[in-house]
Amino acid sequence: MGYTCHQNSRQHKLLDSTAGCGKPHVRWCGRGNGRNPVASTRSKLSEGFEPGLIAGLSPEAYGLPSEAELQKLLSPAATIPASSGSGSSFYFIDELKSGGFNSPALSSAHPPFDVQAVRRDFPILKERVNGHPLVWFDNAATTQKPQVVIDRISSFYEHENSNIHRAAHELAARATDAYEKARDTVAHFMNASSSSEIVFVRGTTEAINLVAQSWGQQNIGAGDEIVITWLEHHANIVPWKQLCDLTGATLRVVPVDDDGQVLLGEYQKLLTTRTKLVSFTQVSNALGTVTPAKEMIAMAHRVGARVLLDGAQSVSHLRVDVQALDCDWFVFSGHKIFGPTGIGVLYGKAVSFSCSPSLKNFNQR
Ligand SMILES: Cc1ncc(COP(=O)(O)O)c(C=O)c1O
Repeated sequence: MGYTCHQNSRQHKLLDSTAGCGKPHVRWCGRGNGRNPVASTRSKLSEGFEPGLIAGLSPEAYGLPSEAELQKLLSPAATIPASSGSGSSFYFIDELKSGGFNSPALSSAHPPFDVQAVRRDFPILKERVNGHPLVWFDNAATTQKPQVVIDRISSFYEHENSNIHRAAHELAARATDAYEKARDTVAHFMNASSSSEIVFVRGTTEAINLVAQSWGQQNIGAGDEIVITWLEHHANIVPWKQLCDLTGATLRVVPVDDDGQVLLGEYQKLLTTRTKLVSFTQVSNALGTVTPAKEMIAMAHRVGARVLLDGAQSVSHLRVDVQALDCDWFVFSGHKIFGPTGIGVLYGKAVSFSCSPSLKNFNQR
């Protein structure tokens, strides 16, 4: 595979993002050039494209708390709520009382974080590993399941188990109702405009492959380009590489700086009328980088490209509002947000289904 850095001329023409259910040799754009790391995304604004293209790179634009909210949380004048009696399990409060832990006082409308109460929700944390109580910090890989999730799954097999949308008997009705209620819940959770925009899949990887093998094969061809970033998980690289190999399209990769921030100027240069799809992560699984998704989506739409946002890591940390983000697809896995393994979500804008006959089959009831 040859790796060549290509820098396209900038495109100023604004295209209708809903137009052209439109058809990349893999060319990886080389990074850097020995310049100093750029500490904030704001400074990318000076890197060769119009600042006006990226509006409001405030923390809120990333779905993060505002400066004022953080200041309030860290206010030294704030008082710590008293612990609930002797023998408290609020270990950090006890440490603060004894002066053993030098931390800023927290002020919040919420009660203090009761780690033992949270642990009690997760039966697996009663397990001992190497003679110690289990501590699980690998939530980016997968989460342990709270009792309420385990109970709901058991309840399905005890009271509802049947095929959905396939039969007229009582159990089928119960199973179908539960399935559709879950779809409504997910639609509400993501602020989708309709639950028909929600397709249940087995996880993020399957969701991305589904888009690549349906919409992608029907709308991407030789000469077209797909843009991803250096931050992508394997699951958001391989399906696009395979699609490029199949169709003759070109895969382009946006570099990041030494802080792991997407170089927005380089991204802008890669966006052309040949760009048919941009697929990137909202939060990096390796670096934790929070990408300026809303702005990157708007930039892609300006050249008429569709955008898939990989929410596998963001969905558990940021508020998801697919209408505000204006992404064409948003994908995530249940197992990373305390749900069971083997369930995931593909959100697709209504128009993205109409552009792809084979994808359309998946959101039917
Ligand atoms: C950013 C990102 N995308 C995609 C995936 C793939 O998720 P899954 O294995 O649940 O399909 C992961 C898993 O770690 C991830 O972190």
